[in-house]
Amino acid sequence: MLIVANWKAYVASKEKAKKLFALAKKLSASRKVKLALAVPAPYIGLFAKGNTSGVALAAQDVSDVMDATETGETIAPLLRDLGVKYVLVGHSERRARGETDAVIAQKVKRALVNGITPILCVGERERDEGARYLALIRAQIESAFTGLSPKERLAVIIAYEPIWAIGKTSDDAIQPTDLQEMILYIRKVLGELMPGRAASQVKIIYGGSAEPENVKVLARASGVAGFLPGHASVDPAMFAKLVKALS
Ligand code: PGA
Repeated sequence: MLIVANWKAYVASKEKAKKLFALAKKLSASRKVKLALAVPAPYIGLFAKGNTSGVALAAQDVSDVMDATETGETIAPLLRDLGVKYVLVGHSERRARGETDAVIAQKVKRALVNGITPILCVGERERDEGARYLALIRAQIESAFTGLSPKERLAVIIAYEPIWAIGKTSDDAIQPTDLQEMILYIRKVLGELMPGRAASQVKIIYGGSAEPENVKVLARASGVAGFLPGHASVDPAMFAKLVKALS
């Protein structure tokens, strides 16, 4: 199981950040889970140096540009230089700030070209009875995959994160059968974009109120390859419980 802790902008003290990192190192002793911390960009610098632990570093975003004359941008080569292994791309909170599918596709490409695994976040705002939300998920995936080579497509991790389930509690999160259905649907879409059995090898993880209370049953029922917890990843007790539930 891959667990990618999405700290968002919850942590703004290096003491707290260091405590959470130390906790993750302890929890990473379990052989059943792989932990990655998607920390705010400045903390990558804090943790990357000499990080020989089993805890991987992830960025929460990457620039779609490569130019040196772009003030404020964090480009993929910089992340690679710091040892970043994963990057979240197209999180709904970035999409809500105007990030388009075209920009997201560019970011996915930038990450891959620089040897960083993109975690492509997709998800619908709400579910309609006519299941039009499925077409939206399909479009989000197709747009990001179109410019990629077959090998690059295999390297992308998909995080299914329905927006209606984000920032709530496990009671409001997705039900196991619905997640199972979504994973099948995403694999079907991938199957149309990839040859042979390649689609079955793509990792699909889930985010949206993943908490200690629901991860085990979701994992068991849906065949999901991991989780992307937000609020539960910055509460030490909750995060420890969540990781242990999957260990
Ligand atoms: P949540 O956030 O676990 O707080 O719902 C998940 C996410 O937005 O990635």
